Amino acid sequence: MLEINHLRKTFGRLVAVDDVSFTLQRGQLLGLLGPNGAGKTTTVSMIAGIATPDSGHVLIAGRALSGDTDPAKRRIGLVPQDLALYEELTARDNLRFFGALYNLAGGALDRAIGAALELVELADRRNDRVKDFSGGMKRRLNLAAGLLHDPDILLLDEPTVGVDPQSRNAIFDNLEVLKGRGKALLYTTHYMEEAERLADRIVVIDHGRVIADDTLAGLQSRVAAAGSPPANLEAVFLTLTGRSLRD
Ligand SMILES: Nc1ncnc2c1ncn2[C@@H]1O[C@H](COP(=O)(O)OP(=O)(O)O)[C@@H](O)[C@H]1O
Ligand SMILES: [Mg+2]
Repeated sequence: MLEINHLRKTFGRLVAVDDVSFTLQRGQLLGLLGPNGAGKTTTVSMIAGIATPDSGHVLIAGRALSGDTDPAKRRIGLVPQDLALYEELTARDNLRFFGALYNLAGGALDRAIGAALELVELADRRNDRVKDFSGGMKRRLNLAAGLLHDPDILLLDEPTVGVDPQSRNAIFDNLEVLKGRGKALLYTTHYMEEAERLADRIVVIDHGRVIADDTLAGLQSRVAAAGSPPANLEAVFLTLTGRSLRD
């Protein structure tokens, strides 16, 4: 469904993303894991078409996107790391705004908003202003906004930062539902337990480069000492990326 080949992005002399390649299938959740500054958001931005790669390309269902107006762009939904919501508007009016960006209108827009609010369990709060929402509710609404146009590929950039355990679990349940519907999910995080719970495959990036692309079991066996029990993902991650501080 999604294939990225040799993506590279520099900011001045900084190489933020350096020759990153991976593929993502339908019904699969790929965990893109990396410390702060590893290049996760820059990678997601290039896939979403918000940032232009210096080189490399992104293929959607085998085809490269040709510019901003390519209809295949509609097959991608983005749930950005920084909340993209209007605090003064109600949940429903926020979604009306985002739906309009995708040219949804009338009954189709109403149905899309209704379904998205049901999924994230905010239907009964639809007429409340976002400024009165908790962090978890805002995150769930941010997820709903990325789903309105029913994309095949959903890019989730650290979608659970600052949420309580209930909202976090609700988001995980939402993602399982979406996976069951055959969506391809790319999920960036630096929370190991999230990747452990959700990911079918894990790509670890550090300093802009892919340093592992494997299943959880594959990663564990890579760092396990012979005869010892499997390491948890956090131990694997620290072995792969080192212990130096990143922020
Ligand atoms: N617009 C930008 N201008 C300059 N440097 C940037 C910009 N965006 C990201 N960077 C730098 O690129 C690197 C990767 O950033 P980012 O992709 O946001 O990492 P992550 O999402 O993994 O924390 C970091 O060193 C960051 O400071
Ligand atoms: Mg980021």
